[in-house]
Amino acid sequence: PLPEVLDEEMIASVVHGFYDEIRKDDLLGPIFNGAIAPQDWPHHLDKMCAFWSATLLRSGRYDGRPLPPHLALPELGEEHFRRWLALFRATVHELCPPDVAVLFMDRAMRIAHSFRLAIAFNRGE
Ligand code: HEM
Repeated sequence: PLPEVLDEEMIASVVHGFYDEIRKDDLLGPIFNGAIAPQDWPHHLDKMCAFWSATLLRSGRYDGRPLPPHLALPELGEEHFRRWLALFRATVHELCPPDVAVLFMDRAMRIAHSFRLAIAFNRGE
């Protein structure tokens, strides 16, 4: 059973808090701000809320394909994934109780790993 405090509101606070930090990050900020124009951020944040809602609450709110935009980013490497996960970990531990933070992290690490494998495979490594 999911912790009761894990709801759409908590997901929205994590998503907004995380991308506020990411956009200021020296390594990841330029990648995100290069791919997403200022006027497109509200749409991106809505999509990411839908993604986490579908992933953790099984709400069915997201039916996109998460991988392709990452394959299209040149030079996405280990250091980017490490930074992404470190920032995400800091955000969820700041905003969520520990049992909820673990649910977010567990899923984020699995997906990050699947992206890494797909990127390596795509490059023929
Ligand atoms: C979309 C970057 C890791 C989930 C995007 C976009 C960028 C990006 C720039 C927007 C693409 C666009 O709209 O043009 C990165 C970078 C990462 C990273 C630099 C770390 C190396 C992750 C991880 C997850 C994730 C670990 C999942 C836990 C998504 C999803 C989308 C997205 C769901 C939306 C895909 C869609 O359009 O439906 N990412 N990402 N990303 N990212 Fe990531």
